[in-house]
Amino acid sequence: MRVLLIGPPGAGKGTQARRIAEHFGVRHVSSGEIFRRHVADGTAQGHAVAGYLERGDLVPDDLVLSMIGGEVIEATEGGGYVLDGYPRTVEQAETAHRLAEELGVTVHAVINIDVVQEELLRRLAGRAAREGRADDSAETAQHRIDVYMEKTRPLLDYYAQRGILHTVDGGRPMDEVTKHILAILTHVRQ
Ligand code: AP5
Repeated sequence: MRVLLIGPPGAGKGTQARRIAEHFGVRHVSSGEIFRRHVADGTAQGHAVAGYLERGDLVPDDLVLSMIGGEVIEATEGGGYVLDGYPRTVEQAETAHRLAEELGVTVHAVINIDVVQEELLRRLAGRAAREGRADDSAETAQHRIDVYMEKTRPLLDYYAQRGILHTVDGGRPMDEVTKHILAILTHVRQ
């Protein structure tokens, strides 16, 4: 099973990706978590991406690919993945599709988690208070949502045209969202 999750900051990609990956016994690969791990470990790549994360801007494509490519290939060889946070632009999606096509491992489904902006800001503010994630401050959270609308949202048309896009209402309780996604993916798998 190879699945991509798309949605704005706070939509619940990470939450749902962990559950879906566990259900299907595949790996959860989160670009944001990989980047934050490098920053916390103080690696050279972590230093290179830290400023982008702090500002809520997208990391340049060459860095993204070099930092997550290996994990995606390993996960593919290990039976599949739930990919959360990549691709994030049409250019990234085209590159990923080209590479996957060459290897015969294109994605089976793309899940778009749809949540209204007020709820996104409420969730991110809640997490900022609980966990203190640096890019959850009110100003940076709003900027991340704006970046999503401009750079990532066009991906929905891209995947709809490929006939693999499914949209779920992510404004519902977590368990209901999980149930809906699993129902879609079980159907896709048959
Ligand atoms: P990334 O880590 O991907 O952050 P994001 O997309 O902003 O997403 P979040 O982690 O904020 O939200 P989520 O949708 O995963 O929701 P979550 O489950 O955590 O990226 C961070 C940065 O890395 C980017 O800004 C960029 O700089 C860089 N980056 C990453 N990928 C990149 C790429 N491909 N190219 C370039 N740059 C890249 O939930 C959020 C909160 O809501 C939690 O508290 C959770 O408990 C709660 N919640 C979840 N679901 C529900 C629900 N149904 N009801 C109530 N609360 C809920």
